[in-house]
Amino acid sequence: MKRLIPLVPTGLAIVLLAASPMNAVAAEEISSLRGPLALEGQKSPPPVFKLKLDLEKFDRNFKTQPPLIPHKVKKYKINLKANRCLKCHDKATYKEEESPMIGVSHYLDKDGKEGKKINMKRYFCTQCHVPQVDAKPLVSNTFKGTK
Ligand code: HEC
Ligand code: HEC
Repeated sequence: MKRLIPLVPTGLAIVLLAASPMNAVAAEEISSLRGPLALEGQKSPPPVFKLKLDLEKFDRNFKTQPPLIPHKVKKYKINLKANRCLKCHDKATYKEEESPMIGVSHYLDKDGKEGKKINMKRYFCTQCHVPQVDAKPLVSNTFKGTK
């Protein structure tokens, strides 16, 4: 209700509220993330958020969570011919590159046997691993990770 009032001339608002308080409640319930903009209205674009890069690692929220990426990834290509992530994180190269090794689970085939090369099920890293930006959640939530 609070949001509706500034949009409508005061006199009209009072009439509306007095006449049909239920409608006002309904309007409040369907207010969207766009806010109370008219259909044709354009919201100014959201700011470009900064990547969170100041950490060495992100805490994991549960045991089987794919860890979040604490570095830039924009220039690291992953396609049929090349996978830049592997050049630093593969078990053959990680020591030299001083990077954390990819989990052993990524090398297991369907029978649970560990291979020398990454299993193709885990080839497209960014299908599961993502960097984070410094943005507030759009809707609040009460999620808490396990320890
Ligand atoms: C130039 C080397 C390099 C490349 C390329 C690279 N990484 Fe990393 N990565 C690192 C290093 C070093 C760390 C350790 C944290 C740090 O210093 O930023 C890391 C950390 C991570 C972590 C966090 C691990 C954990 O246990 O928390 C993930 C996940 C990750 N990288 C995924 C990727 C993915 C996916 C790509 C490709 C899109 C990629 N990395 C490309 C060097 C690299
Ligand atoms: C299908 C989802 C999936 C894909 C694809 C995937 N990962 Fe992971 N990754 C995970 C999960 C889940 C974990 C945490 C549990 C584990 O180690 O298996 C993990 C763990 C890791 C870790 C931390 C290992 C540790 O021991 O702490 C690194 C580094 C990593 N992945 C890098 C990569 C890179 C690089 C690629 C691409 C070549 C990749 N992952 C592809 C799901 C995935």
